[in-house]
Amino acid sequence: MSSAPKIPTVQLPSGARMPVVGLGTWKSKPGEVKQAVKDAIDVGYRHFDCAFIYQNENEIGEAFAEKFKEGVVKREDLFICSKVWNTFHSKEAVKRGLAETLKSLQLDYLDLYIIHWPMGYLEGGDIVPWDKDGKMQHSDIDYVETWQALEEVQKSGKARDIGVSNFNVEQLKRIQAISSLPIAVNQIEVHVYNQNKELIQYCKQHNITIVGYSPLGSFDRPDDGLTSDYPPPLEDSSVKGIAEKHKKQPGQILLKYLLQQGYVVIPKSVRKERLQANLQLFDFELDAADQQALTQLCKGGHARACTMNQDWNHKHHPFPNQGKIRARGAVIQ
Ligand SMILES: NC(=O)c1ccc[n+]([C@@H]2O[C@H](COP(=O)([O-])OP(=O)(O)OC[C@H]3O[C@@H](n4cnc5c(N)ncnc54)[C@H](OP(=O)(O)O)[C@@H]3O)[C@@H](O)[C@H]2O)c1
Repeated sequence: MSSAPKIPTVQLPSGARMPVVGLGTWKSKPGEVKQAVKDAIDVGYRHFDCAFIYQNENEIGEAFAEKFKEGVVKREDLFICSKVWNTFHSKEAVKRGLAETLKSLQLDYLDLYIIHWPMGYLEGGDIVPWDKDGKMQHSDIDYVETWQALEEVQKSGKARDIGVSNFNVEQLKRIQAISSLPIAVNQIEVHVYNQNKELIQYCKQHNITIVGYSPLGSFDRPDDGLTSDYPPPLEDSSVKGIAEKHKKQPGQILLKYLLQQGYVVIPKSVRKERLQANLQLFDFELDAADQQALTQLCKGGHARACTMNQDWNHKHHPFPNQGKIRARGAVIQ
């Protein structure tokens, strides 16, 4: 434990501090995720990114409870985020979804609760409500209503800060226009192939912390993912070259690139050696030439791992260029 690196933090509107590296938990399978979270705590992680839809909050809760019981960490040492799933967008459903998440995680409050996507789905049935023709059943609940429910959650003390995920500038502005509370974070896909410059600039101007998801390119995702035009960034020759130059691993270069731009990163791993490697980011700096080479990998476009293709016809789908999406997810700008 003494060799665990000290992770810098950023301050959120409540005054709470969020460690700039957290553990992603999407796709971390039951049977794996509990051990991964326990290992992560042992090697120094204090920030955990969870979600109702990942369907593994129960095991994550067991890991937290065991580490609290062992006295390794206290609740207040951890920064825990979870997300309102699309089938919980109405005011009443937000409360139910939060209650389920808190019960699974064995917590009485979250540090951060965010709206996972701006699109609402049909409530009260399946959590991924496909119809018999293979189309997603949407609801027309406005994310503004969901946000107002989050304001109540924050006022009740069950979440210290509230925020959003996958919101575009226009959607952020709609919330800001009616909200009495600040949007603490926008959690969005950021990596070398999707640098989101305009959205990030807006968030920076408005003191909305960017939490970058899929920072390594999400190559274990189940479906669409990035195209062959965008091979795994971990295998890119310039990323590998920069890694050799700094005697680091490619993954560390990709994460450091995002940290140096002021983002929080939440890489997912279930392997202890990678959990450790993904924290060893504070003993080197990328120089201007490294950063320029990495910026050029974007090729001026937005290649996304997470496209939510099934929701292109939803009026609140956040991404540009609807209908111009290629198979497996690279959006042509
Ligand atoms: N808000 C949203 O809509 C949203 C969407 C997507 C993701 N997220 C969050 O962001 C987190 C991270 O994104 P992600 O899971 O999509 O992808 P990611 O973190 O970019 O990539 C995860 C993949 O990289 C591997 N990996 C991890 N560290 C590595 C290293 N040092 N070297 C080589 N490979 C490494 C992992 O394998 P092993 O596990 O086998 O090590 C896994 O296959 C998610 O888990 C989730 O918490 C949020």
